[in-house]
Amino acid sequence: MDKIISIENLTKSFGGIKAVDDVSFFVKKSEIKALIGPNGAGKTTLFNVITKLYSKDKGRVLFMNKDMEPYKPHNLIEIGISRTFQNIQLVDEMDILENVMLGCHTNTKTNMIDAFLHLPKNKKEEKKAAENALEILKFLKIDDISDKYPSEIPFGYKRLVEIARALCIKPVMLLLDEPAAGLNESETNRLLKTIFRIWEQGVSILLIEHDMNLVMNCSHSIVVMDNGKKIAEGPPSYIQNNKEVLKAYFGK
Ligand SMILES: Nc1ncnc2c1ncn2[C@@H]1O[C@H](COP(=O)(O)OP(=O)(O)OP(=O)(O)O)[C@@H](O)[C@H]1O
Ligand SMILES: [Mg+2]
Repeated sequence: MDKIISIENLTKSFGGIKAVDDVSFFVKKSEIKALIGPNGAGKTTLFNVITKLYSKDKGRVLFMNKDMEPYKPHNLIEIGISRTFQNIQLVDEMDILENVMLGCHTNTKTNMIDAFLHLPKNKKEEKKAAENALEILKFLKIDDISDKYPSEIPFGYKRLVEIARALCIKPVMLLLDEPAAGLNESETNRLLKTIFRIWEQGVSILLIEHDMNLVMNCSHSIVVMDNGKKIAEGPPSYIQNNKEVLKAYFGK
């Protein structure tokens, strides 16, 4: 079986808190895998370790069977890993097209102003980046807002713009951190369709999400974390009725 990414015994502590505690699982190629768990379970920390924003304490991450240890954050663009952030990070002073273009040069920087400072100064390169960004906005069916500013578009669109930015590098693996947070029902339905369309392009997806409808409807397999630990893993039908999972969500 082809694995795109393997997390092996990953551990990350902050002071006395084991945010990620000996977690192992893998994502198969062309799979949509969900990572769920109550607030503070360690989901975002796991993303931050994978994308090199945080160093790990123990364990390893293999991407296409290669240990990611030597990689730096900027190497992720080259190997094709991209992500979105839980908190929307659009630069208010830039229009949507320019915001998406930021993704061509960075896909892991939490600080988009920093990304802005590293935009190419070369006109030819900039034109290519603009064409690429517009193509992605078209793919996501939001090219009608390309010249708008973040303050002028609805919240649901902002999440899609973040996804557009992550798609700029044509990733093979996309990490989405709570893409449905703050969306209404129709925006969430649109997001579901969007996730499927990205997946149809051959992109493997790891999705952190609290919206259980979305998770159950789009993932092939689910990993559940609680207090830093993996407590369950399996297809949606199994996770829905798993006692440990129900206890983690409702038992406290
Ligand atoms: N940079 C940090 N410094 C100190 N503690 C942190 C840091 N990042 C995360 N933590 C702690 O690690 C634990 C896991 O947090 P994390 O953000 O990974 O959870 P999460 O599963 O993403 O939660 P949520 O669903 O609320 O986003 C929490 O106790 C959190 O307070
Ligand atoms: Mg989180």
